[in-house]
Amino acid sequence: MAILEVKDLNFSYEEEGKTIDNVSFSVEEGSYTTIVGHNGSGKSTIAKLIMGLLESASGTITIDGIALNNENLAKIRSRIGIVFQNPDNQFIGATVRDDIAFGLENHCVEPSMMDEIIDTNAALVKMSDFMDQEPTHLSGGQKQRVAIAGVLAMKPKLLIFDEATSMLDPDGKDEIKKVIMKLHKESSLTILSITHDIDEVASSDYVVALDQGKVVLTGTPQEVFQQEKKLKEMKLDIPFSLKIADELKKRGVTVDRCITMEGMVNELCRLRSKM
Ligand SMILES: Nc1ncnc2c1ncn2[C@@H]1O[C@H](COP(=O)(O)OP(=O)(O)OP(=O)(O)O)[C@@H](O)[C@H]1O
Ligand SMILES: [Mg+2]
Repeated sequence: MAILEVKDLNFSYEEEGKTIDNVSFSVEEGSYTTIVGHNGSGKSTIAKLIMGLLESASGTITIDGIALNNENLAKIRSRIGIVFQNPDNQFIGATVRDDIAFGLENHCVEPSMMDEIIDTNAALVKMSDFMDQEPTHLSGGQKQRVAIAGVLAMKPKLLIFDEATSMLDPDGKDEIKKVIMKLHKESSLTILSITHDIDEVASSDYVVALDQGKVVLTGTPQEVFQQEKKLKEMKLDIPFSLKIADELKKRGVTVDRCITMEGMVNELCRLRSKM
């Protein structure tokens, strides 16, 4: 079942030209779906349209069977959690604890349950030692961790990341990715991740590729990464494992085109055992 369905969506910031041009795609419940596309292709605009922060010119957005419109906005927002690229505009509370609590209060969580939920989610993103600090005094990466804890605490049905780990250093990125993947796998949390991280795309279930406001490719990562010509036209990268496969091919060695490094290492081991 699709938890999110976007159909024939159109939107423009200005009178001329379309920022979002007849976009349709869906996100299956329990899936890890990624949206990729060059800078300015319209990814964040789609996230804002889904949250009802912008109003489309035409088309429909349905979340958990509910059509997005002014009357249903609160219902829709209670089902979605979003973490944006820039953490600075996401804080309301005076301390990290207050900030995570704010969303829970809005969701009418029982006060006796709150501390435990806050502490668990702060620990997940390794921010337990910062609970009494002012969010504005944190680094970009720390702010992003708090924002992630805030949305996780609300147990959304659909979690949208708009390049939410782009402010983190490589170790921090890996750590958060692991937390998210664990939640996705263990709690079947549905994730829609807007990302430039091609390895994240490779390990997702389904990919939506955007170019100049249009959906140009959709499918499993295997299917999408087969379209190398199109990806090159869109100036999108391919996974490192495929680059290895291409280099080996140039040297006369044909290997299976695995899109994950794990698969590629297995493939190379298999070849070696045949030598
Ligand atoms: N508030 C705005 N007013 C006018 N134009 C805007 C506004 N926000 C975005 N745009 C334009 O809309 C287009 C799509 O922007 P959007 O932020 O959705 O792209 P994106 O795919 O998220 O890019 P990035 O990878 O850089 O985050 C761009 O051409 C951008 O310049
Ligand atoms: Mg963006």
